[in-house]
Amino acid sequence: MRYQEFDEQIDGLLAAMTLREKIGQLNQIPEPKTPEQAEAYKERIRRGEIGSIILASSATAGNEKRKKGAAQEDSQQKKGAAQEDSQQKKNAAQEDGWQSNINTALCNELQRAAMEESPRHIPLIFGRDVIHGHHTVYPIPLACAASFNEELVEKCYRNIAREAAAEGVHWAFAPMLDLSRDPRWGRVIEGPGEDPYVAKVMGRACIRGFQGEDLKDPDSLAACAKHYIGYGASEGGRDYHRTEIADYSLYNYYLPAFRAAVEAGAATVMSSFNDISGQPVTSGRKYLTDILRGQLGFEGFVVSDWAAVQMLMRFGVAGDRADCARLALHAGVDMDMVDGCYGENLEALVNSGQVPEEELDNAVRRILRIKFAKGLFDRPYCEPRRVDRAGHLADARALAAESMVLLKNEGVLPLKKDVTVALLGPFVHEKRSLLGSWTLDYQIEDTASLLEAMEEKLGREHILFSADETGLYDDSVHTAAKADVVLLALGESWEATGERRCLSDISLSPSQQALIHRMKALGKKVVGIFFCGRPLAMEGVAEQLDAILYAWHSGTKTAEAVCDILFGDVVPSGKTAMTFPRRTGHIPLYYNVTSSGNFVNGYYGEEIFPCYLDSVASPAYPFGYGLSYTTFAYGPVTAEKTRLSLQELEAGKRFRIAVTVENTGDYDGKEVVQLYIHDRTASRMRPLRELKAFQKPLIRRGEAARLRFELGYADLGFYTEQGEYLVEPGSFDIYVGGNCLADNRIRIEVL
Ligand code: NOJ
Repeated sequence: MRYQEFDEQIDGLLAAMTLREKIGQLNQIPEPKTPEQAEAYKERIRRGEIGSIILASSATAGNEKRKKGAAQEDSQQKKGAAQEDSQQKKNAAQEDGWQSNINTALCNELQRAAMEESPRHIPLIFGRDVIHGHHTVYPIPLACAASFNEELVEKCYRNIAREAAAEGVHWAFAPMLDLSRDPRWGRVIEGPGEDPYVAKVMGRACIRGFQGEDLKDPDSLAACAKHYIGYGASEGGRDYHRTEIADYSLYNYYLPAFRAAVEAGAATVMSSFNDISGQPVTSGRKYLTDILRGQLGFEGFVVSDWAAVQMLMRFGVAGDRADCARLALHAGVDMDMVDGCYGENLEALVNSGQVPEEELDNAVRRILRIKFAKGLFDRPYCEPRRVDRAGHLADARALAAESMVLLKNEGVLPLKKDVTVALLGPFVHEKRSLLGSWTLDYQIEDTASLLEAMEEKLGREHILFSADETGLYDDSVHTAAKADVVLLALGESWEATGERRCLSDISLSPSQQALIHRMKALGKKVVGIFFCGRPLAMEGVAEQLDAILYAWHSGTKTAEAVCDILFGDVVPSGKTAMTFPRRTGHIPLYYNVTSSGNFVNGYYGEEIFPCYLDSVASPAYPFGYGLSYTTFAYGPVTAEKTRLSLQELEAGKRFRIAVTVENTGDYDGKEVVQLYIHDRTASRMRPLRELKAFQKPLIRRGEAARLRFELGYADLGFYTEQGEYLVEPGSFDIYVGGNCLADNRIRIEVL
């Protein structure tokens, strides 16, 4: 029992609270928009009718353009006047500190109403969509996953927590743990990609970073594992659409990351917008109570997604708002985010016996646990604190560089610092897109464009650029013709990703493809730098480029990190956390696929019989893939034992797998060494590869590292449709290599 220590205090409060006060704890409202609204809220807080405030004014606030100053900040920043202006702002910002969008003084005022004037003096909990940064923005979560660097991700999320907590945020609506096999879905930017193990590791890193050693620490934020469950399976990659998830897939694919999040102590969980095979999750007691609490052992509280309780009417499972409240509470949604269904209806529902008061008490208890655990009763107010701004920016640069994936390099990169480069493409001056979607508190002043960062690295005299970034006019051609290498800044805008931002075609825009072709025709070496929030379909593009650096939307320090890699100050080490298809029509394409009876898909689009008559269906770049400037040679996989007793495994015995990896190239470099298993014969079909462990050692050139992995009972099994965990005797292949296609393996028998 995680929160037992607060039981007595909670019992005392529950015994004293009126029905209305209890319901108030379940009620979350959006931030006040006007002083009048703030006054009205205060009145309600004094009456005990409000338990939480979400510091956002709309469901997709992190996805929208900034209201004030948006035109200047969000447009592409051109050279010249705009650059000088941003320089001035930078200096001012350094002197004055960050520009904040959170009215901390007002939060404290509202809190004072709760602490001093409400009947039970229960503090409010303030939540915000702090997704991949606060003032300092780190790579989008899909890029963080590509870093395969758990420690660095945790460190960066600790920084994020400090920045947000310093302004009064108690609770962050992250990590998003929705696995997705569909890059058309705009929300893949917010998630860990397609693999359950990566999702577990990245979710844990984020939760530990947010919550720290102790949730009570004023620098900590309560985490929210979301969206529970299955949201990333929406049909056709269309946001909010229905999902079909069999229980076997639910347990083995979608749930493990949430199981790990619960184990890591995630304080809260957000229920998801989708339905699963006709059951909206918001009213799905099976999901929110039986599985989440009963089987996963979650003891924190569940918050609905934005206005999702009232959506039960749209789903057609509730007749009115009272019905919505009754169904959601019974399912296990403790806090109602902003739609007021609980506040309006629960009192009558309890009084008429339609909702047992015990159900209400349980929800209140779970919310109070987190308020106690967060230390809000002792430190309800925000005391402004300084943070290590320079340190955070340095960490952001390091993580951005570790997240970027070198997809192709035909002997072009790294570039020498005395080359003359032509810098073209729509992202040369862009800043806002580099930060990515779902970022509310970014400081554009801290963000350099690629041109600015390159000037810093190389000096102006080495960079040629053209007023015509499209490459369609002569000026750009003449510019490129004078350069040693052509660098193309390509990609997609931050507005092409995020909530409600899905695409039916994930190929690079036609104008950017035309630019690549035009440049290639000059006979120069052409390097594509892709600023993206999702994997793009690479057919027709990859072939034309001599090198491809997938830079993602990697946050405040994206541009500097790109330059660090292009010019060899950092050796690339990111690996894809999601498959890159050749074409949109190949979606879904993912590595942890099972074999079909007919060998139509040998492994992952391997062509035994062609999957499609019109194209090659294998991935453009598989899961776990990424190049370095150096090369690594893998020795044979060895096992301390190849025959293992199931009984011993069950009793907790672990066994060791080892491999030697040698750096055979010219640079010191980090390699993501990945271990996959394949359960060859089981009572259910198992994936042909499942990632079970990885390490990311730095191996100096000419040196070798001996890497040891330990596997045990928890790594060899799977869940049945009922959620029972099984390890079956039989043979397992264990692969170790630099991506999911590695065929370096050893076979073990479980007896
Ligand atoms: C809707 C989104 O689905 C969720 O991720 C977010 O936390 C809430 N809006 C609150 O803004």
